[in-house]
Amino acid sequence: MQSAYGNQTPPVATELTNVEAGSPMGELLRRYWQPVCTSDELKDLPRKEKLLCEEVVLFRDGSGKVGALKPHCSHRGTSLEWGRVEERGLRCCFHGWLYATDGRCLEMPCETDEFRERMNVWQPAYPALEFGGLVFVYMGPPGTEPEFPIYDIIDSQVVGEVELRGMRLWDDQGIGYVKDCNWLQHYENVVDPWHLIMLHQVISGNQGHNMLEGMTENMLARDMAKIEFEKRPTGVRFNMVRELPNGDYFVRHAECIVPNAYVVPAVSHDGGRKTRATELSWAVPIDNEHVRGISMVAWPLENGKPKAGWRPGTDISDEVRPGAALSRSYEERQRKPDDREAQEGQRTTAVHALENLGMSDTGVVLLRRMLREQLKRLEQGLDPMNIVRDKSAARGIPTGTWNAILSASEAAALGDKVGRLA
Ligand code: FES
Ligand SMILES: [Fe+2]
Repeated sequence: MQSAYGNQTPPVATELTNVEAGSPMGELLRRYWQPVCTSDELKDLPRKEKLLCEEVVLFRDGSGKVGALKPHCSHRGTSLEWGRVEERGLRCCFHGWLYATDGRCLEMPCETDEFRERMNVWQPAYPALEFGGLVFVYMGPPGTEPEFPIYDIIDSQVVGEVELRGMRLWDDQGIGYVKDCNWLQHYENVVDPWHLIMLHQVISGNQGHNMLEGMTENMLARDMAKIEFEKRPTGVRFNMVRELPNGDYFVRHAECIVPNAYVVPAVSHDGGRKTRATELSWAVPIDNEHVRGISMVAWPLENGKPKAGWRPGTDISDEVRPGAALSRSYEERQRKPDDREAQEGQRTTAVHALENLGMSDTGVVLLRRMLREQLKRLEQGLDPMNIVRDKSAARGIPTGTWNAILSASEAAALGDKVGRLA
């Protein structure tokens, strides 16, 4: 026995996990457009959100432009979340100072114009933009905003006519209903396919993944599928291959797009030869102890209209998924744990120094290494990966994520390459 007596938890190494301004990862994440809410959540009221340990108040002025201001009014500090959205901007409720989307104070109703001009007040603000039904903010150093990267799965020039929709597929929670833990352990989960087999099939029963059919408790997980991990130009993906009970082969990839975007194909295969993921998602740190999932969904069109009854591939918010019932008894959570239990259970922030990583954790290791490399690039004054400066390169950026079904002979023809189905 190795006694637990006197065991001490080492301090968390925060380099990869903590996201406040000035921290290494906080600064890295601030170099990318981060989604903060969906477009349809900005109507006639301002909306306060927190991300990367900072609060911002978002609003859309009468011309349709979105703004992201720091909450405390430059006059005497009232929160602008109580302000009034107007044609030209957001008006503080207290003494009526009016701010444009770029933060400039346009009106001071209790002061003279001469005073206002002399004071030249600007409410601290961040650049904001809307794309694909989501509102994004850029919280990095002024003037360093990259192009907005349009990946292939959300590019109609690649995937055909689709309507892009901003959605919170798991309410305001990350995929798997995870929220109360550090963002990184949630993000790492994307490249941890072994947990699909163990947690979502063997331990908790089928949690809505028909690709796991035929797996039983009597088999060792390592015999149920062949899994490799691969570095890609955009990040890290896993390649999973398994023989289905009917003799076909199932291939699946999911991918982390560094630093915090990810692509997960449908959780159940549709039998297609190569079915691309239909949504691009982000694990957005709210602060160091909370994470939010938010997605841009490429909704297929039928006769020019959004296809009725269609559901995004990872939307499993029905009775199949135990974690979808947000309030479950302690006993239910113990009997059928889901991602929430597994990931929040790693401690609020996982202590990497206490882990014993195995070969099955290769995806996690590659991802952490890649994130560290980006921290280094930033330190050296270089752009980290996935920063696009050239507009013409910002479209159709290839991702490598899909489900595929191959016949036994097709799989045999591909041989060792089957897991790298391009
Ligand atoms: S505190 Fe905002 S106008 Fe006075
Ligand atoms: Fe999961």
